[in-house]
Amino acid sequence: RFAYVNGRFVRHGEAAVHIEDRGYQLADGVYEVWAVFGGKLADAAGHFARLWRSLDALKIAHPMSEKALTVVLREAIRRNKVVEGMVYLQVTRGVAPRDHAFPNPAVPPAVVITAKRVDRAVAEAKAAKGQSVVTVPETRWGRCDIKSIGLLPNALAKQVAREHGAVEAWFVDEMGLVTEGASSNAWIVDAEGRLRTRDTQANILRGITRSSLLDVIAEAGLPVAEQPFTVEEAKAAREAFITGAGTLVLPIVRVDGAQIGDGAPGPVATRLRRLYIERAK
Ligand code: PDD
Repeated sequence: RFAYVNGRFVRHGEAAVHIEDRGYQLADGVYEVWAVFGGKLADAAGHFARLWRSLDALKIAHPMSEKALTVVLREAIRRNKVVEGMVYLQVTRGVAPRDHAFPNPAVPPAVVITAKRVDRAVAEAKAAKGQSVVTVPETRWGRCDIKSIGLLPNALAKQVAREHGAVEAWFVDEMGLVTEGASSNAWIVDAEGRLRTRDTQANILRGITRSSLLDVIAEAGLPVAEQPFTVEEAKAAREAFITGAGTLVLPIVRVDGAQIGDGAPGPVATRLRRLYIERAK
């Protein structure tokens, strides 16, 4: 395997960044993850748009143009022989002696790209079975719209999920409303049969898979409301699922141990997974 580190491809096992990279010391950086289908980036434009937005929000310079970055991402896919998989990109503010404030003058942002294969047959089997989520209190900062590499609350939440045999943890705010997952957006098909997912005016990540799926839902003419739902509503829902570049559209059949619907992946989630993948291909 090969990783791209600051301008060149190196062996994955030997790839390294400086100890004073601000990503390492301060989580001062952002990232993106693309799904790869047939060797091509899924939802490429949406992920780029969000990358520029995240960087601008943190006043980190764009390390290269979209065109140049596309070339490097494709090269990462090619060098790692990824046909079905994922690409990870991280941009940090760069290397400078430790100081909370930005380096002045600015230093060049540091770029790392990795690519890995995903076994789609394993992923399909997981989706066909349906997965579990657990809920945890929302403890994150007020700028979850930025795809920051500062993921400690997400990592802790995911660990709670793992310990309960769940694939994901849903954060729940002080109103009892689900915000989103540790690395995905949260959805239900509510008791009235409407698709529900939290609006992006709230403090959540504007998922690219979420927004593509909204297009798929509009084309399919399904009823949808961008409105938050409570944990109780999720437990009483007909169906639940999560979306993200890592999971695509993944049916959820248990929330905090409570069975959703008949305990099997629902027809809407199953159909939307298929439609999303067809579109992304
Ligand atoms: N996570 N919400 C959070 C907190 C996320 O970290 C992610 C993505 C999403 C879904 O966004 P998208 O559809 O654009 O992937 C929502 C990536 C996959 C990760 O952290 O690995």
